[in-house]
Amino acid sequence: MSDSPRLTRRPEWAELEDHRAQWHAHLRDLFDQDPGRAERYVVRVGDLRIDYSKHLITDETLALLQELATATDVFGLRDAMFRGEKINTTERRAVLHTALRAPRDAVIEVDGENVVPKVHAVLDKMTDFADRVRSGEWTGHTGKRIKNVVNIGIGGSDLGPAMAYEALRAYTAREMTFRFVSNVDGADLHEAVRDLDPAETLFIVASKTFTTIETITNATSARSWLLAAFEDDEKAVAKHFVALSTNAGKVTEFGIDPDNMFEFWDWVGGRYSYDSAIGLSLMIAIGPERFREMLDGFRIVDEHFRNAPAEANAPLLLGLLGVWYGNFFDAQSHAVLPYSHYLSKFTAYLQQLDMESNGKSVDRDGHPVQWQTGPVVWGTPGTNGQHAYYQLIHQGTKLIPADLIGFANPVAELSDELKAQHDLLMANLFAQGQALAFGKTEEEVRAEGVPEEQVPHRTFKGNHPTTTILATEPTPSVLGQLIALYEHKVFVQGAIWNIDSFDQWGVELGKVLAKRVEPALTRGADVPGLDPSTAALVAAYRTLKNA
Ligand code: F6P
Repeated sequence: MSDSPRLTRRPEWAELEDHRAQWHAHLRDLFDQDPGRAERYVVRVGDLRIDYSKHLITDETLALLQELATATDVFGLRDAMFRGEKINTTERRAVLHTALRAPRDAVIEVDGENVVPKVHAVLDKMTDFADRVRSGEWTGHTGKRIKNVVNIGIGGSDLGPAMAYEALRAYTAREMTFRFVSNVDGADLHEAVRDLDPAETLFIVASKTFTTIETITNATSARSWLLAAFEDDEKAVAKHFVALSTNAGKVTEFGIDPDNMFEFWDWVGGRYSYDSAIGLSLMIAIGPERFREMLDGFRIVDEHFRNAPAEANAPLLLGLLGVWYGNFFDAQSHAVLPYSHYLSKFTAYLQQLDMESNGKSVDRDGHPVQWQTGPVVWGTPGTNGQHAYYQLIHQGTKLIPADLIGFANPVAELSDELKAQHDLLMANLFAQGQALAFGKTEEEVRAEGVPEEQVPHRTFKGNHPTTTILATEPTPSVLGQLIALYEHKVFVQGAIWNIDSFDQWGVELGKVLAKRVEPALTRGADVPGLDPSTAALVAAYRTLKNA
């Protein structure tokens, strides 16, 4: 048990509470009094320009938040993570996704073993395989070239590659088809394969544990679909199935040749794993060179997080801002709003990263926390969201801090006419940040001649905080930079809240109960101890199913 004072009993916490109690400033006043904050509250990392000027903060707020970070030893935990210490205490594991993008000559030890050579050996094996598939050297059972790649995985074994494939679509082998199957609803696999030729299809079964029921069920069905095309010739499996896993035993049991397994390790959390072997589908799609550019992007932000001073450390600042709103303004959620069609799955990916990491209610010592932890993360690409839920952000009753993410350039392959739309897209991003921060006063509304009874409805109070992240364009490196930025932001918040951001026991109960309930649905088996509500639902389901 730790001797350190509990978070809310720290003097730094009390100072922030006092500061919050005295907080009355509107963003309009803050910019009137200090226009220089527009340039001062900007941090640059790699290709990212992160503007945090439209936040409910002053220099004093930042100083107090930094004191909290110092008191909670965020950088001490950061250094322990980079050193390979077992900071995932409940699972007694190191947390070393940063080793996945370490240079070949780096030395990072876990239990006395340098893990970097293993990382590069797998990357080299992935490179070789991806090149062979892309070039047509690796063929299917009948000798046909592989044209379709179907990744079967869920959670971290799906969201990362699926998100990055969308984000980097412009860099992908357009002549190939890539699909991602995650849902145990048979419709997912059905829709993914219904128009594919099994002889041209490669399945990548991605599962850290290789015990996840959704993935194993879908992989088993995929194998049946494949074998049905090859008169049950089991030899076909070796040419059409590869595995990404930490569990060689289970992979072999499933029938996949261990030579066709791409390994990773228990010190890579599922939601931190798409730059490991889990990224194989992505590597086939964008090619090994682009994949390595993406890893370089991750590394830029890793180095920044490790070395930049606290006051210019982007993940630290973003993490602290989230603490400021979540713990002192009672903000319950955080919106991530990318102004890029290519980032359509970005927020869904961040939901697992953030909510599975920091959705915790006991601290590292097992005590119930008496402070808010991770926010609800949500959002979809602008401008679609503007015509759906932005109304609530602008004029609803909740404080919703938001990240607006945009790029200076559209991807190169767009036609000139479509490229010209980019300024309009970005005008929307800037306009939203402006409207959210500064709103529209009653006086401004009246000056437009609006009838008096409509004035309250057409007034925007503003004062909604946003971070604006601008980057050059959605390249592999920039994607890596963005993901590492959020990974480390989540880390910072978990460190301050004194929770284990790297376990996920909360998803276990549902899994266990689903296994217990399933026989009741399939065969009407009696489930001892089933609660009356679930028992009634099961009975209703069976009646409807058999009707
Ligand atoms: O949802 C729980 C979880 O363990 C995630 O953390 C993980 O990403 C996902 O399931 C998939 O797990 P696996 O890769 O072992 O199949």
